[in-house]
Parts: sequence; C-alpha cells; structure tokens
Amino acid sequence: MIRAVGHICLLTISSIAFLNCSSNDKAKVSLPEFNKMTRKDAHSYSNYEQIHTKHLHLELDVNFKNNTIYGVARHQMINKGADTAVFDIKYLEIQKVTLGKGNERPADFIIGEFDSILGSPLMIPIQKNTEYINIYYNTTKQTEALDWLAPAQTTGKKLPFLYSQGQAILTRSWIPVQGTPEVRITYSADVKVPKELLPVMSAKNPVSKNETGQYHFEMKQPIPVYLIAIAVGDLSYKSLGKNCGVYAEKYLIKQCADEFVDLPKMITAAEKIYGKYQWEQYDIAVLPYSFPFGGMENPRLTFANPTLITGDRSLVSVIAHELAHSWSGNLVTNASWDDFWLNEGFTVYFENRIMEELYGKEVADLLVNVEFQELQNTLKREAKEDTKLKLNLAHRSPDEGMTDVAYVKGASFLRTLEAKVGREKLDIFLNSYFKHFAFKSVSTEEFVAYLDSELLVPGNITFNVNEWIYEPGIPSNYVLTSSERLQNMETLADQLLAGKDIFVKGKIKREKYTTQEWQTFIRRLPKKMEVEKMQFIDKNLHFNNCGNAELMSEWYVLAINSGYTEIRPDMEKFLAKVGRRKYLEPIYEMLASSGTENKLWGQAVFDRVRGNYHYVSQTSIEEIIR
Ligand code: BES
Ligand code: ZN
Repeated sequence: MIRAVGHICLLTISSIAFLNCSSNDKAKVSLPEFNKMTRKDAHSYSNYEQIHTKHLHLELDVNFKNNTIYGVARHQMINKGADTAVFDIKYLEIQKVTLGKGNERPADFIIGEFDSILGSPLMIPIQKNTEYINIYYNTTKQTEALDWLAPAQTTGKKLPFLYSQGQAILTRSWIPVQGTPEVRITYSADVKVPKELLPVMSAKNPVSKNETGQYHFEMKQPIPVYLIAIAVGDLSYKSLGKNCGVYAEKYLIKQCADEFVDLPKMITAAEKIYGKYQWEQYDIAVLPYSFPFGGMENPRLTFANPTLITGDRSLVSVIAHELAHSWSGNLVTNASWDDFWLNEGFTVYFENRIMEELYGKEVADLLVNVEFQELQNTLKREAKEDTKLKLNLAHRSPDEGMTDVAYVKGASFLRTLEAKVGREKLDIFLNSYFKHFAFKSVSTEEFVAYLDSELLVPGNITFNVNEWIYEPGIPSNYVLTSSERLQNMETLADQLLAGKDIFVKGKIKREKYTTQEWQTFIRRLPKKMEVEKMQFIDKNLHFNNCGNAELMSEWYVLAINSGYTEIRPDMEKFLAKVGRRKYLEPIYEMLASSGTENKLWGQAVFDRVRGNYHYVSQTSIEEIIR
C-alpha cells in the first residue's frame, strides 16, 4: 500500500527532513525542520505556503453495509514550485495516489509517523508544475469525524443515518486535506448513497430524493476545510422563507419548522447589522440526538441538535449564533485555532445583537448574564494561560481552546469596546472588517492592527486591547448590564431556601419563566441540597423530566451531589439519548467526583450508552469517567 518508501527515505525532499525510517515502513518527519514557513499552523502538517488546494472535487460512495466511505479526493493545486505536496490524514486507508487530470499517472507517496492529535502527514513527491493530485482512499472504523447511526438511533427507527463533524481538525479523518483554516477551497462532490436516503452537504443542496441515489454538490465560495460537511438520512425539507428552510426526519419536520419560524427575520436582522448574507441559502439540518454540539455553522447548512426543539422556541439563540457565523467564522475565519476567539467571541456578540433586534434588549440581557455566570465558573477551572483570548495550543488538541474564554470573554471584549466608542462607530468598524477580510483568514495580530488603524487611532481612542487579548482573566473595565428578571429569580430561590412555599396557589409555574431564568434559579441553590427540597421543587416544576435539556443537565448535576438518587432512571434515559457534550460533561464530571458509588454508576451507564455518542463526546467523557 505504501509505495517506494525505501529509497525516498534516503533523500531529503524539499525542505522536509525524513528521519529514522522505522521498520514498519513509516517515515518520521521532524517537525521543527518541517518547513521554513512564515505562518505555520501548529495543527497541520501541510506545506500550504508552497502548494495549496484551490478546488477539491470529491467522489464519495457512502456504504452503509460496512459504514465506510470510499472516496477519491481530486485536489487542484496552486503550486508555487514545490516538489512535494503534504496533506493531513488520520485513520484513512490510502489506496493509491495519481497525478494529472484525465490522463492520470500513478505517484509515490509516504505516510509519516502517526501523532494521536494530528494524525499523519501524507507526502507526495511531485513536479514543480504539478497541478492535479488525486487521492484514492477509504474511511475506517476509527474515523473520528463520522457518526454512523443504526436505524434504532434515529427518530424514524427504520433507516440508518450518517453525519460528519469537521471542526476543529477532524475533516482529515474522512477526507485527505490540508487541514488548516489558512487554506480556503471551493469544492464539488459526486455522492452515491442508498436510494432511500437523501444526502446534504455544506453546499447547494437537493430538496428531495431521486431514483438513482446519486447527487451532485457545489460549494462555489472558498471555505476552510473544517466546514466541509455531509449528512445522509431519511431527510425531508420544509421551506421557511425565500432563502431558508429546514431538513429533518419527516417525523420531526413540523416541530422544527415551528421552532425556527423566526429564521427569515433573523437573517434580515443580521444583514441589517453586518451586511449582505454571502452564501445565498441558509438551511438548518436537524440531526439525531448524538450530535455532539448544539449547532455547527456549516456554510449554507447549519447542523443542529434536536434538543433545540423544545416546543417553546427558548433555545433559538443557538440558531442566531450559527447564523452569525456566516460572517464571523465562515466569511472571516480564524487563521489558526489559537485565534479561535475571533470566530466565537465575535459570533456570541453578533448572536446577541440579532437576539436584541428580534426580541428586545431585556431578552438579550438575560442571555449575556447567564453566559457571564458560566464564564466565572470557567475562570475558576482553567489554567491561567488558557484564560487569555490569544491561545497557544501547539502540541495540544485544538479542542482545549473551546471554552467560555473564547466565547464569553471574547464577546465581552466587543461589548466593552462598544460601550467605549458607541454602537454606531463599532458597527461601522465591524462592517468594514467583514468586508476587508471577506473570504480570508485573519490572525489576532492582524485584527489588532486593523482595529488600531481603522478605529482606535483615527478616533483617538485609548483602549486596553493588549490586556484583553494577551493577559489572563477579565479586565476590570468589562461591561455587564444587570438583569432585573434574573435578580428576581435569585430572590425566588432565596425565599424557597428560607422555607417559604413559593408554589402556593400555583403562582409559580415553569412555563411562566424562560430557560435563562430557571438556570439562574437553579444556579442560586447551594451545590448540595436537602433531598426533601429537591423533591419539593420537582413536584412543582418537574425539572427531572421537563424535556428542556439545558435545565435537565444542570438539575442532574445538583441531584447527584445532593444524593437525590431517585431521579437516576430519568437521568439514565437522558444520558442514553442526548449526545451533546455540553450537557454530558458536567453530569459525568459530578458522577466521577462525588464518591465511589456515583462513579461506578456513571461508568456502568457510560458503558451501556456510549455507542449513542459521537467520537467527540465519547473521548471527552472517557477522560472524565475512567
Ligand atoms: N463552531 C461551534 C462548535 C465547535 C467549536 C465545534 C469548536 C468544534 C470545535 C459552534 O458554532 C458553537 O459554538 N456551538 C455552540 C453553540 C452555542 C455557543 C450557542 C454549542 O454547540 O454549544
Ligand atoms: Zn460558535
């Protein structure tokens, strides 16, 4: 399978040094000597400054008999004279590599040493004028990006389902790519699936099945490879407006359409704030419960977790968030995962502006305050270094940067800047930022330079930018508007704790308050509660099985620590069904840290249900509970 390793090991190709060819035919790449690149992304082996993909054409055969994708990745390169092309791969079987278009010639290739985070470099000796590189491959059982679901794990229970999760660096486990957000590509795909299923991608999508099971996709705007995505299932489509709609299994489609009915208004609001939506169509694909995130901003097609479908539209801010990424993240992309806050901080800020536009300042402030409660907990937990906005994730998984620091501290930075310069000026600046860097990647340093030259210097404004970005913790000038509605919930919790029957005469009902209000109520309670009080609350509010995963997750954490074991059956049902990592992690963390009995129970549950989680959640929980 690996060709010509022997003699190539003796040479030095390009500026890559091959050291210590090991007996198992794998060449070892020395990373420090890897390349004389000026902007090297620590999470990619690729030599993208010398040669990079411009367009990728995929031929994918999605095989549900053995849960394997058989693929050809046809890379059209911009070659600045490189004699080697390096791609990232992880847990892929490479069958062969050819060069050329139409008239393909077989090529040698070398797979470098495996790294548990990065995977391996796939190195292909080429000519200085090589333009087309074709990689024939298949995915394996270990492929991390893909979640293959058996029919029983879907809502319909009759047909299987497949979806991918690319961010941050998982795309290389289902497609050989240059796995850095510095490289932007357009892509097309010919996809073959079983006739009963419909494939959709982060591209122009079909709205119904055809007789052949063969579909063609085009993504004509250049995107970073972490945004290549696919879902295949028994999907239906319902339009929600002139350029938006929702895909879901047909059993869920009506509920989804109802939950996301405000989508056209959200798009209008977003465009009003930061300029024209650049991706033509905005659809949402509601995936099975195992999806490890609330939402993922795949361009033209946000992937969403079905826990968003609460029936009362109380979690639609997640959709505002993913939509906002169409500007911050997808249009202007973080240059590396150390700059992740440029994606998420800007998006949380923008999400909140959309929410304010649609539902008013009071609702928007609820969200800001609840997020801030979460940031305070995060700051207690994280190492000081990791509470800076600009991170250093070299030799670590980029996943470690996915904390409230990037999200909430990042958004606070913009909110504080807004308070300083005024909304009007900040909006003018951000509009020009999105125009200036459209379809480009931007590093923190480039952002800071642009901020200086376009906003701070011309306006003669002093702002502690460096402290915000390069120092740990939260600077003292951060701006947070308090929320009266949340303060009322704290009072309510205090009254209950003082022994008052707050539920008397049916005055307090769950439906009367929003998710954020109840979160604040739960968070006000002591970490260890009297079991009778927990029972009393559940008798009146039914947090134990209320159907709102946001509340259930926090309630279970409190229940575990309080020895309120009678809710275990409800909790196990939840853990068996929901795969969103944000909900699972705190529960398993509490189980693991509150005594042997809880830990053993948690391990036993995890063993029973782990098959229902995507790789991303499985590995995170594995680390917590073992
Ligand atoms: N892009 C993220 C999800 C992500 C980040 C996946 C890093 C992998 C690596 C997405 O936009 C997101 O932030 N999702 C949040 C939504 C929330 C903040 C509204 C989630 O799923 O919790
Ligand atoms: Zn996000």
